[in-house]
Amino acid sequence: MAKQREKIEVFEGQVLENALLSDDGGTVLCKAGTIMTPDLIRRLSNWVVRVEPGKKKQDEDERTPVARVNRDEILRRLEFEEIVSQKTRERAESSQGEFFDKVRAGQGGLSLDAIEDAVAAMVEETPDDPDVPVKLFEMKQHSSYMYQHCMECGVMGSFIATNLKYPHKDVMGFAMALMLHDVGILTVPDAVLTKKTALTAEEWSLVRGHSERGFEALKKVPGMDPLALMTAMGHHVFADGSGYPESVDFNDLPPLVHLAVVINDFETLTAQHGPFRQAANLHDGVSILLRYRHRYHPTAIEQFVRVIGFYPISTFVELNTGETGVVVRNNPDNLFLPEIKMVLDPEGAEFKKEIIVNLLEDNERRITAVRSDL
Ligand SMILES: [Fe+2]
Repeated sequence: MAKQREKIEVFEGQVLENALLSDDGGTVLCKAGTIMTPDLIRRLSNWVVRVEPGKKKQDEDERTPVARVNRDEILRRLEFEEIVSQKTRERAESSQGEFFDKVRAGQGGLSLDAIEDAVAAMVEETPDDPDVPVKLFEMKQHSSYMYQHCMECGVMGSFIATNLKYPHKDVMGFAMALMLHDVGILTVPDAVLTKKTALTAEEWSLVRGHSERGFEALKKVPGMDPLALMTAMGHHVFADGSGYPESVDFNDLPPLVHLAVVINDFETLTAQHGPFRQAANLHDGVSILLRYRHRYHPTAIEQFVRVIGFYPISTFVELNTGETGVVVRNNPDNLFLPEIKMVLDPEGAEFKKEIIVNLLEDNERRITAVRSDL
């Protein structure tokens, strides 16, 4: 009888980097990208053992002989740009913050002027060349996750719509709609939003109602773009009927709201300080969206992946050679074989000279894993 392998240590919320196979290796028990839920861990108890996230992290560090290299430092040296400059981002954050604070305080007389100017500057700076290596997310943490979430969605919306060649007016409207889409959450008490245990039916209905309440709040603002109203109302509406509010028909939503649904979910999955204990790396975020693609409009998910890639730019990948590289460009003809800049040799030492490898043309190298430890 084959000797049973050692159990794999997992923690709740972990996204599996590799597929989990049966002891004889013949059956895929869990595909790569699966999120470890308490129920799944229980069902897989013959193969996995639950550990605290901290312990797993420490073990991973011990297994990794590579000198700890600072991801941001590498990206800076490789000249990865932020989608918008720090100054413009701060300006947008402050106008968005003022707007949200007024909504939270129930103040009337809301004006869009400051946000419109800030969004215009943001869209102006957004690179329209898909080959420009950008950091998709700024890691700076706002005191409120929800403010930060809306901001990140706005920047990403500007980037995606710009690269899909939407007219300038639509990019502006889309970025603005995403920056305001979760404003209804301000009406949910913090105690409910930060509750560690399961929500009661009443609390859950309060959370679900944020779409309609956001719509109502934005409707009162003079000159509000209908796209922002529809995005507030429809950003949790899914094709399979699993979203909310139930009164909104998925088929009635315009294409940019369908795209907003995808962006909203992607940001939530990958946010460093978001609702999930363990943020998915950008590649896992894309994999999870694709696994649940039946929930999204097919055009929206296709547009999203076309711009972001299967291995998003700035993803650190391990190759079959033991080398580590960072994705700098996606090949539109094959999103599985991006162009990468080599970062570390198999021993973990940094490459001294610049080596770019196009996996579409290099038959010797292939991606074996995404390195989320960097
Ligand atoms: Fe929301």
